[in-house]
Formats: sequence, C-alpha cells, structure tokens
Amino acid sequence: MLIVGSSGSGKTTLLNMIGLLDRPTSGTVLIDGVDTSTLNDDQLASFRNSKLGFIFQFSNLLTDLTVLENVILPRKIHGSLEGSEEEAKMLLKTVGLESQLNKFANKVSGGQAQRVAITRALINKPAIVLADEPTGSLDSISAETTVHLLKSLNRKLKQTFIIITHERPQFGEVDKVVTIKDGRILEEEELETSSI
Ligand SMILES: Nc1ncnc2c1ncn2[C@@H]1O[C@H](COP(=O)(O)OP(=O)(O)O)[C@@H](O)[C@H]1O
Ligand SMILES: [Mg+2]
Repeated sequence: MLIVGSSGSGKTTLLNMIGLLDRPTSGTVLIDGVDTSTLNDDQLASFRNSKLGFIFQFSNLLTDLTVLENVILPRKIHGSLEGSEEEAKMLLKTVGLESQLNKFANKVSGGQAQRVAITRALINKPAIVLADEPTGSLDSISAETTVHLLKSLNRKLKQTFIIITHERPQFGEVDKVVTIKDGRILEEEELETSSI
C-alpha cells in the first residue's frame, strides 16, 4: 500500500503514528487486532519491535558493523539470536547481497545499503513494514531495483508494506493508494492486484 501526497501533507506524521513512534492526539492505532492506545511505553516498545519493521529514506546502518551484523541487530534487541545468522544470510541472499555479508556498512553502495536496511526490517518477521520515501535518496536505477525488490518480497514472503512516496508512478501497480492532503485522507484507491 502506498501513501502519497505533496510535501507537508502529513505523510510522515501518519506513518510515525502507525509506527507507534508518535501517539495520536485523537483516535487509536489498531495493529494485528491490538488497540495500541491501551499499551504503556514499555509494552509499546516491545510491540513495535516485534510487529513492525522500518525503512527510511537513508538506510541508517551502523557503519562500524558489517552488513550481516546490521541485519541481526534487531534480533539482539528483540527476539532470539538462535538461528538468526542463518536467517539473515538467507534473506541477504534473497536481496542479492550474499557476497557482501562481511563488508562494513559504509563500504557498500547506496542502493546496496538500502537493501541491507530492507533486510534488517524483515528479520523479526514483522506484521507490517513501514517505509518513508525508501527510494528518495537513490539514483533512478537503484530506485528501480529497490521498488522491484519490495514488490517481489511482498509476493514471495507475503509481507505487508506501507510505503510513503512522492514518486507514485515508480511503483506501478499496487493494491492500495491513500492520498493525504493537509493531514487528512483525500482519496483511497483500491486496485485489483496481488502486489504491495
Ligand atoms: N493530522 C494532522 N493534524 C495536525 N497536524 C498535522 C497532521 N498531519 C501533519 N501535521 C503537521 O504537518 C506538518 C508536516 O507533516 P509531515 O508529516 O512532515 O509531512 P510530509 O511527510 O507529508 O512532508 C508537521 O508539522 C505535522 O506536525
Ligand atoms: Mg515526510
């Protein structure tokens, strides 16, 4: 699903509320059947770590860790390390980075770094992956590869993605598009397709 709208329309604000990074002043956020307004801060953090994955415009990798270590990090913070290395390696293979595992994160290209960030978002098997302008800082070829990858992960892993973009055409066919204007939903389009 895509969230689109002009700059300042409230896309990031909405995503931060869905991502439980900000609390809404009114209304509630329901995720996987849980009314998140009933959770205290600790419960919220734990819920966020187990149910949500995040991808940002910049990959925000830890540069003194390797690609593999960056991907395993969310498992160190939440969940179990058992089997995490094998799972991380398998996911990194899926995104075409099997030859980059032991490189430091600042030694890979921008497009590759974003693929590491995508893999990191998937390692805890979240219910939803939230992405704020994931192609916003990439050249057009890397952006195309990233979109293709997100769509293929959506199909292969049946992973739900909520993606903010102001490059609507870059994503081609998607299952739902929500247009935001002045902090409100302007339009909701549901499309007949099996992707994102
Ligand atoms: N529903 C809302 N109600 C009140 N203020 C909002 C709402 N949505 C966004 N804003 C405000 O609008 C500004 C721009 O929002 P932002 O989410 O950064 O936009 P975008 O990501 O689309 O560029 C922010 O200052 C934010 O606090
Ligand atoms: Mg924004």
